Amino acid sequence: MGLIPQAVIEEVLARTDILETVRQYVALKRAGSNYKGLCPFHDENTPSFNVHPGMGIYKCFGCGEGGNALQFLMAIEGWSFPETVRNLAERAGVEIPEESPEEAEKARKRREGRKVYLDIMASARAFFEKNLWGEPGAAARLYLKERDISEETARQFGLGYAIDGWDHLLHHLTGEGYKPEWLERAGLVMKKDRGGHYDRFRHRVVFPVVDVWGNTLAFGGRTLATESKGAKYINSPETPFYTKGEELYGLDVAKRSIQKEEYALVVEGNFDVIALHDAGVDVTVAPMGTALTEDQTRLMRRFARRVVIAFDGDSAGEEATLRCMGALEKAGLEAMVIRFVDGDDPDTFVRREGVEALQSKIDNARPLMAWALDRVIRPVEGAAIEVRVGALEDVAQLLDEVKDRVTWDHYAREAARRLDIDPGQMKNYLRRPEAARAEVKQQVHRSHQGAKLTSAEYGVLVVLLDHPEWLSDFFREELDKLLGSHDLARLLNLARDHYEANQEINRPLLIEEIKAVPLRETITRALAEPERGELYPPDQSLRWYRDCVWALKKRWAQRMAAILEKELVEVDFRTDRDRYVELTEQLKEVQQFEQALNLEGARPEQVKSHAG
Ligand code: UTP
Ligand code: MN
Repeated sequence: MGLIPQAVIEEVLARTDILETVRQYVALKRAGSNYKGLCPFHDENTPSFNVHPGMGIYKCFGCGEGGNALQFLMAIEGWSFPETVRNLAERAGVEIPEESPEEAEKARKRREGRKVYLDIMASARAFFEKNLWGEPGAAARLYLKERDISEETARQFGLGYAIDGWDHLLHHLTGEGYKPEWLERAGLVMKKDRGGHYDRFRHRVVFPVVDVWGNTLAFGGRTLATESKGAKYINSPETPFYTKGEELYGLDVAKRSIQKEEYALVVEGNFDVIALHDAGVDVTVAPMGTALTEDQTRLMRRFARRVVIAFDGDSAGEEATLRCMGALEKAGLEAMVIRFVDGDDPDTFVRREGVEALQSKIDNARPLMAWALDRVIRPVEGAAIEVRVGALEDVAQLLDEVKDRVTWDHYAREAARRLDIDPGQMKNYLRRPEAARAEVKQQVHRSHQGAKLTSAEYGVLVVLLDHPEWLSDFFREELDKLLGSHDLARLLNLARDHYEANQEINRPLLIEEIKAVPLRETITRALAEPERGELYPPDQSLRWYRDCVWALKKRWAQRMAAILEKELVEVDFRTDRDRYVELTEQLKEVQQFEQALNLEGARPEQVKSHAG
């Protein structure tokens, strides 16, 4: 880029309204001839940030930042000086002479191209809007009504209707003097094989995609067809002036509220945005069919400190939520999450439960990292050490994203506690490069390998070796989940395979499977158990089996209750109400399970200690 002449800079500054520029980022209130707001460059609760439109400058009396519109944009966007001048010049319609005639020509072409592009988009938008609110839009208006969207919100978002036909928009825009080729490049019409063009959007509700400056850059169109022919949404293609991952649907409308509330709610669907704004949650935006990109989080950072992800309740929504983590962390945004039950999205939730219920979910949003960790830890909590160690890599992958030391330490310790792994070993594991982690895993294993079988586990093992025909039921009822030893579960699984294949168990082959030495000794004893008659009389084997299973269930319930109680103590009821309620309910279930066991009244005293 060539040097920009001083005269151009002066002209750009003269034509740029400082108030309008700063307002893109800061909520300002009038104070005499000046405007005041919270400084975007430092944390403060009382406004000391001033804009003087008459002088064309801004100044913060808190942190000292100050300057003109160019300096403001450089500071807040991190743009270089030439970049900033070019951006402002483009908006203000000032031409910058380029160093070479070729470059000058290229820049001029691009500027003109963009101008035509934005004009076409504005024209198309107006046409779609006119259709929606006029005679052709009856079906579309009915659809919006059925979905409970108010006219006010629909108008605020510039919703429109693309008529059911092949060339309504084409005719309209060519009538305004735009060439079909331009419309094709703008993505509004497509070329026919045998010449001529046809409309991209037909019989659809159209959603204008608007940038933060208020320009319509693209459209999304949702089908009105009841029989699901074709895609639910058809979107504008990317063009030289529109890149999908760089815009956020709804940001233009939401940005002021986001600035005020200091957080943005990010939902999956365009319709979720509309429905939530309609319900009064006007900090809502959507990334239009993808997880958040780094461009999008950088864009949000101008307005928000905190981002609450509220994607659909299905597993796709869960996966997409996880994929937002990196970009949010990179932008330094505080990342939170709320989840819905499968089948719900924010739109259906707010219609059924009301906006207070949604607001309470937002107020109780969990940190994204805590949620993601919980997701990998919860399924293995209380399981055998081999299973818990298996979750270490997932934990490591997540914590690798955390830059802040204190936060990292907090989550590392929480993971260690919940996985019941020594915190020192846990951190040692997390700090190593991936290739060197296997070694620590071995250490963790070794320090847990003394673990022997409980008497009930030993009892169940002996009786199942006697009665391998019960093994298939044992697994069908998922009783293996009650075992504290993963090795034992694996051994029984193998025994079942042996039995199903050959109607007998290959004992030497089984014992090969057990890696932990003390456990191997115990199991060898069970396999060779000479005093089986002492454990239980042969005619009492079923009774014995049931007593052992009863004791396993009892131990499992006690173990789970202890884990849940420990966790409950650490959850703050006020800030994490959803989690608190969830844990309380789980605990209640486990306790009821235990009570039912007690009523069943097996004879646990029968299961004497013969283990290890
Ligand atoms: P959804 O299917 O959740 O859309 O996709 P929605 O807006 O919530 O629509 P309703 O409520 O089911 O009617 C989420 C977003 O993914 C993009 C759109 O931006 C949509 O809003 N999408 C979805 C597409 O681009 N193409 C598709 O075929 C579907
Ligand atoms: Mn949806």
